[in-house]
Amino acid sequence: MTAQIIDGKKIAQNIREQIKTEVAKMSVKPGLAVVLVGADPASQVYVNSKEKACQEIGFYSEVHRLPETTTEVELLALIDKLNQDPKINGFLVQLPLPEHINEEKVILAVDPAKDVDCFHPVNTGKLFNGIAAGILPCTPAGCIELIKSTGVALSEKDAVVVGRSNIVGKPATMLLLQNNCTVTVCHSRTKDLAAKVRQADIVVAAVGKVGLITGDMIKPGAIVIDVGTNRVNGKLTGDVDFNSAKEIAGFITPVPGGVGPMTIAMLMQNTLNAFLKK
Ligand code: GUN
Repeated sequence: MTAQIIDGKKIAQNIREQIKTEVAKMSVKPGLAVVLVGADPASQVYVNSKEKACQEIGFYSEVHRLPETTTEVELLALIDKLNQDPKINGFLVQLPLPEHINEEKVILAVDPAKDVDCFHPVNTGKLFNGIAAGILPCTPAGCIELIKSTGVALSEKDAVVVGRSNIVGKPATMLLLQNNCTVTVCHSRTKDLAAKVRQADIVVAAVGKVGLITGDMIKPGAIVIDVGTNRVNGKLTGDVDFNSAKEIAGFITPVPGGVGPMTIAMLMQNTLNAFLKK
């Protein structure tokens, strides 16, 4: 049996089209600002995609491309300006930042109501406490949408999250828990990763290691969500060895065309929700 491929590109496009239809009826448009410091190649690609999505949907959009030499004080001043700007309903500072800028300080400076990345502790705290909020972590929320698209109910499933980052692993764990999964979080110090992954009805792989999860580690019929964005000879590759995994899994996301487009669709959804003050 070969797994069904979860078409993240198409699912994301449907979400963007729904938002576009809603925005078309508005006289004042939701506004998103993106801040990029420096010239990290991957970040440049992400920021360009976010800008393009805004234009397609009809959001008001600003992109602030700042030089690598921007000081922390200068960046914090821009954040303060965006916090005050009524045209801007949501904004984000693309990570990673240059070494001389304190990431934590930057995250804390963003008004939680405009924190469409869901990185501010006020918003991650709400997530942790299960308090309903219009802003959800983009990539983890995208993973949940992809899992739901299979039609398989999440409740009572055993989920294994591989990776414990603040951007994906930890918030994905919270969302799976909220959806009544039993969640195991694995990481670089986990004993016998293969045995743990083999238990999982749902696998979310988010570690940044090419092909770490192989077909022999997958429970037959499992849902496999690959968050990996590794570049191998200029080609985007996931954390899952797609060819072996697709022979065992029930559903699997490709890289590219799986989680990536969903992250941006969820960012657009968060911006709309911030505008509507949901
Ligand atoms: N770097 C990698 N992923 C993300 C993201 O979702 N948001 C921001 N701001 N930076 C990132």
